[in-house]
Amino acid sequence: MTIHSDTTLAGGTYLVTGASSGIGRATAELLARRGARVIAAGRDAARLDQALAGLAGAGHAAAVAALQDADGAADWVKSLVEAHGPLQGVFHGAGIESIRPVRLLRQQQVNEVMGGSLFAALGIARALAGRGAMPDGASLVFMSSVAGSAGQAGMAAYSAAKAAIDGMVRSLACEFAPRRIRVNAIAAGAVRTPMHERLARGGTEASMQAYEAQHLLGFGEPDDVAQAAAFLLGPGSRWVTGTTMVVDGGYLCR
Ligand SMILES: NC(=O)c1ccc[n+]([C@@H]2O[C@H](COP(=O)([O-])OP(=O)(O)OC[C@H]3O[C@@H](n4cnc5c(N)ncnc54)[C@H](OP(=O)(O)O)[C@@H]3O)[C@@H](O)[C@H]2O)c1
Repeated sequence: MTIHSDTTLAGGTYLVTGASSGIGRATAELLARRGARVIAAGRDAARLDQALAGLAGAGHAAAVAALQDADGAADWVKSLVEAHGPLQGVFHGAGIESIRPVRLLRQQQVNEVMGGSLFAALGIARALAGRGAMPDGASLVFMSSVAGSAGQAGMAAYSAAKAAIDGMVRSLACEFAPRRIRVNAIAAGAVRTPMHERLARGGTEASMQAYEAQHLLGFGEPDDVAQAAAFLLGPGSRWVTGTTMVVDGGYLCR
């Protein structure tokens, strides 16, 4: 039997988007181990059910939704609050990769990259600003990326989405601070997830080795980011707001 001594999130309900895969899934698992009741969200019901089955504790729920714009995301979060009660925290991990030279970039791809990540983030925040959606002292964490501050060919739309997340959290932190609600982002380096595997398929073994070497500590694992998310969502970070925490194995420091 495994005994989990850290139950700092017990008693709270936490929404995790992107919970069916990779970083979001690892975060849902860690939050559940810390005692949280998790609303696990993703687009694929079967994958989500699998993720839900792996969560410790009881009372978790699945929420299937394809997020693409602020209004839709706001209505969706409102309905979740009506069904499950106020949220003590939200981890917004939903997002897709995009590597495309700018000459091939069309509005549809821009909408897809921005939709699940940035536009949904703004809608989630709007819903949570509503009366009774979050208790005072709640915490919001949005997934950003090192691509938000370091350029890479083919990443213009993705970089723009993540840089916008970094800017968004600074202003949201100002807006929510009177209620001591904290808003932060995590800028991750390359983490071994299904997204990472899809990107790796487009490169050679040598190019991936060179990319990994740019990370002083090598590629990360989903739990490396989940640990940061749990910290930012929990009481230990009560004086941290409006910042982007870099969790990148040393990618950006050179
Ligand atoms: N992996 C990395 O190296 C890395 C580095 C920096 C930042 N990030 C960011 O971290 C986050 C998670 O990435 P990951 O690597 O864990 O990716 P992943 O394994 O591909 O998982 C992405 C998750 O987001 C969900 N999702 C995608 N688009 C959605 C949409 N429009 N509406 C609702 N759900 C949606 C997926 O749902 P389905 O299961 O239905 O597809 C899945 O649960 C993303 O925001 C990504 O940009 C990742």
